[in-house]
Amino acid sequence: MITLDDFDTFPDFPVEGILFYDISPILASPERFREACIQLMPPAGAQVDVVAGVDARGFIFAPVVAQTLGVGMTMVRKKGKMPGVDLLESSASIEYGSTDLTVSAGPIEGRHVLVIDDVLATGGTARAVAEMLTRGGAASVRFSFLMELAGLDGRAALEGFEVTSAVVV
Ligand code: PRP
Ligand code: MG
Repeated sequence: MITLDDFDTFPDFPVEGILFYDISPILASPERFREACIQLMPPAGAQVDVVAGVDARGFIFAPVVAQTLGVGMTMVRKKGKMPGVDLLESSASIEYGSTDLTVSAGPIEGRHVLVIDDVLATGGTARAVAEMLTRGGAASVRFSFLMELAGLDGRAALEGFEVTSAVVV
């Protein structure tokens, strides 16, 4: 099991008033990293055709989950990094600012998508991803997070979507 003790915490990072949960100790331990990827796996019976990793920290875990499931992975990137003509875009307000996200429509249209990210905070990022994938014709969208900051009520922003989190604080 991954627990709160597996994260380092940094008060007032990246801005004052934010307590930053750092995944570095999990990555530094092969055993902890493996356990984190296991906990990010979807529930038994969930249909997943493609795993979407969210730039940047979701990229660390999503490929492992995709490979374990035997499905492909696609990248949800911060705007301006993704080439191609079939890009979907969405704007997210996050815990400490805002960000524009893009994803390629081809790999998600008509597919059951599992979105992976490290932390669910306000849900602004995940909500923007859900909106973008739904608009792009995903058959379903579900989410797996390593950590959920329950006090920020990100789950409310994802009402109507399946959400699992390994650690809830
Ligand atoms: C962090 C975190 C989540 C998001 C959660 O990403 O990795 O993606 O914020 O916050 P929210 O629920 O309020 O949207 P961030 O964009 O800060 O940085 P990263 O590029 O290091 O993942
Ligand atoms: Mg992130």
